[in-house]
Amino acid sequence: MSPAQLDANRVHIFDTTLRDGEQSPGISLNTAEKVEIAQQLARLGVDVIEAGFPITSPGDFEAVEAISRNVEGPVICGLARTHKADIDAAWGAIRDSQRPRIHTFISTSDIHIEHQLQTDREDVKGQARAAVTLAKSYCEDVEFSPMDATRADVEFTAEVCAIAVEEGATVVNIPDTVGYTTPEEYADYFRRLHELVPTLRDVETSVHCHDDLGLAVANSYAGVLAGARQVECAVNGIGERAGNCSLEEIVMLVRTREDVHGLTTAINTRELARTSRMVSRLTGYAIQPNKAIVGRNAFAHESGIHQDGVLKERTTYEIMDATEVGLESNSIVLGKHSGRHALRDALEHLGFKVEGNALNAAFKRFKEVADRKKQVTALDLEAIVSDEMREKADAHELAWFEVEAGSRREPLARVAVKMPSGEEAVGESGGDGPVDAIFHAIQKATGTECELRQYTVEAVTGGEDALGQVTVMLRTAGRLATGQGVATDILEASARAYVRALSNALEGAAIREAEAATAEAAVERTPGP
Ligand code: KIV
Ligand code: ZN
Repeated sequence: MSPAQLDANRVHIFDTTLRDGEQSPGISLNTAEKVEIAQQLARLGVDVIEAGFPITSPGDFEAVEAISRNVEGPVICGLARTHKADIDAAWGAIRDSQRPRIHTFISTSDIHIEHQLQTDREDVKGQARAAVTLAKSYCEDVEFSPMDATRADVEFTAEVCAIAVEEGATVVNIPDTVGYTTPEEYADYFRRLHELVPTLRDVETSVHCHDDLGLAVANSYAGVLAGARQVECAVNGIGERAGNCSLEEIVMLVRTREDVHGLTTAINTRELARTSRMVSRLTGYAIQPNKAIVGRNAFAHESGIHQDGVLKERTTYEIMDATEVGLESNSIVLGKHSGRHALRDALEHLGFKVEGNALNAAFKRFKEVADRKKQVTALDLEAIVSDEMREKADAHELAWFEVEAGSRREPLARVAVKMPSGEEAVGESGGDGPVDAIFHAIQKATGTECELRQYTVEAVTGGEDALGQVTVMLRTAGRLATGQGVATDILEASARAYVRALSNALEGAAIREAEAATAEAAVERTPGP
């Protein structure tokens, strides 16, 4: 096969975990966490990272800029509406990337044009032209999306896409913004667009599907079969409402059914499970056990007939090998006598470079866990180190807790929280069970009122002495935020998760206040007309 043919068969993976994915309620990633995810996405081998929507807040701008400066390999993309200020901000944030891309969008459906944009089709065409022209003046690589395209008149969408290509767009993406289309319809839409806009052949076309009807992966696949060579997707399928096309599912679909279409991606699939776990931990969005590819049960066999078949020959009931997606990596085992070097080597093997104070802190946590657990596996280590890395110098932190509870007495919890000032604040409370008592004691210690929105506990690995991983979503100070905690004791994991969620919410609220104050000061400084 010639290089040209090889390239024609390559499906580019455009990851939007940090932009569309981050728009999920309760996700509040800070810049360091976004850079950490982006670095893992680069290890995974994605072609494009949509790092954020820089105009939306100084925090978003800072994160996109940090990713552009610190992450090598993939194209780094910033999102912008067709407004000049958006495109200027996107370019400002990505200009230091080795491979920058501006992604600009405007709706082409009449519902959006009339009700949201409150304008008309002629204006949309003018805005699309001006936006692509401006973006192109900054950056060679420009992507254009006609938002809500699948509910729009295809003839009008074609006119707008033709304008974008004429002005130099390198990628044209067709979003199924509200997850409304079906595979046949989406494929037909692509075919019709190609008939109406012959110049689309000169650029890359792209799919962007939401999962409102559970069809995001199927629709994306249909678009690819109809000629699109870029798939926009998010790790674990996170995103607005029901989410985006799941990265791991579309990648493994393309890989597993290469026999049908001959297409490939450049993804290092052995990094899929680790990436999925990292995104789940940092976003607080748990992975359902039966989730395809990365769910805990995705390769588990319960029925005797299946188990028997797999023992005789794996392919009787498995279409993929768990090792292909990196789910096997529980082979590293440390015990309570393992030393600092063994821990560092094991962590390095898992992709964590931990030195100095961070290694000391990780070692201390490892010893605490190893004292209570017979064996510490790779998954345990990953959970402990990720948990330890979440501790921030200037954030709230669980210092200690004690709780008295039982079926014949009212629970009573005392919790000490290390405040950002360094002081320790203690709160005491009863509650509806020990976890509730701990949560109320934390509120008293920190002087905050929180509304608990979600609480989940899961085991990191199997076995009686498994580490517990707790996810908490709460609302306080007008912010929804999540936090996770890991410990052998689920009460401790719960307390850690709650303090982190609270700390994330307060940090988000403080940033928003500071941004509002800066904006107000700027308005005051601006002379009137
Ligand atoms: O869903 C959508 O339409 C989007 C666009 C910004 C591409 O996310
Ligand atoms: Zn979207």
